[in-house]
Amino acid sequence: MKRVQLEEIEGIGKATAKRLRKAGYTSVEALAVTPARELMQKAGYKDLASAERIVEAARKTLGASSFTTAWEHWKLTRNRMRCTTGSRTLDALLGGGVETRAITEFVGPYGSGKTQICLTLSVTAQLPPENEGLGGNVLFFDTEGTFSSDRVYQIAANLGLNPEQALHNIILSRIYTSDHQVLMLDYAFQKCAEENVKLVIVDSVISHFRSEFVGRETLAERQQKLNEYMHKLLRLAEILNLAVVVTNQAQANPAAWGYTITDRPAGGHVLAHACTTRVWLRRAEGGKRIAKVFDSPCLPEAERIFKITEKGIEDVKET
Ligand SMILES: Nc1ncnc2c1ncn2[C@@H]1O[C@H](COP(=O)(O)OP(=O)(O)OP(=O)(O)O)[C@@H](O)[C@H]1O
Ligand SMILES: [Mg+2]
Repeated sequence: MKRVQLEEIEGIGKATAKRLRKAGYTSVEALAVTPARELMQKAGYKDLASAERIVEAARKTLGASSFTTAWEHWKLTRNRMRCTTGSRTLDALLGGGVETRAITEFVGPYGSGKTQICLTLSVTAQLPPENEGLGGNVLFFDTEGTFSSDRVYQIAANLGLNPEQALHNIILSRIYTSDHQVLMLDYAFQKCAEENVKLVIVDSVISHFRSEFVGRETLAERQQKLNEYMHKLLRLAEILNLAVVVTNQAQANPAAWGYTITDRPAGGHVLAHACTTRVWLRRAEGGKRIAKVFDSPCLPEAERIFKITEKGIEDVKET
């Protein structure tokens, strides 16, 4: 598929295109979903109107219409795909696996299996659709330095795939700060289109935001930045019909100190609103894990058991 270049946007010449690329906007798709205020700051425009004109022109180039019918929406969502997690019970809990055009969030305390699910998905997404994969490549944003190529190798080999090929099909991006995380998402629009990426993973979405913005007075700024990031992530999923999986950390609920200590997802309302399906993970006895869907537009609240093995994620066999 031929990609539309920045120079093809009406009113954008070579110099402006160069300036935009330098600021991190390498694709028309990324530009079309960028808030004008952000573009003004990053590309160094003095007034908001200039930035607004560019974003608007990018949208027009893509033919993005502001009005549509529910019928158009329905037709568009027919090409939605689902990716197996490796466990039938977990797939069933998710309504058939992790879906494209949506953000699926896995949240839970340390060791609950979030990264293990991501590593497994980064292999299963490569399977063809008839084998419940997405038939594409994977972009893995590793913000915590916990990506394990050894584990991917092991999972791929145990699922009967060529492990070296499976590793070649995963594009890895180690993320060092929240600014870096935001910038790399801008680049992802072009990368995902060029490399037939069908699954984008952010493990975890929250760690840099949590460690850089400390104290109540920075909370509003953090949430604003996280909100813009999540919106862009969802647009990436929608525009390229790919699945986005994010992990999130559990946060102790201070209000409950003293009598029961309950954990809740970090990221507050921003993540609650932005994620399409939210799954809480916790450990159970015998190395098993429990997954609970606690927020979804179309799935009931329910929980199921799975286990982590050399194959990645698997069903717990009935005895
Ligand atoms: N090959 C394996 N076979 C069985 N279990 C494994 C294997 N590899 C890892 N595990 C299990 O996975 C657990 C780690 O899970 P994971 O790294 O997904 O946690 P997490 O939810 O991402 O935690 P964190 O918040 O620290 O990132 C280990 O404690 C171990 O129980
Ligand atoms: Mg992890």
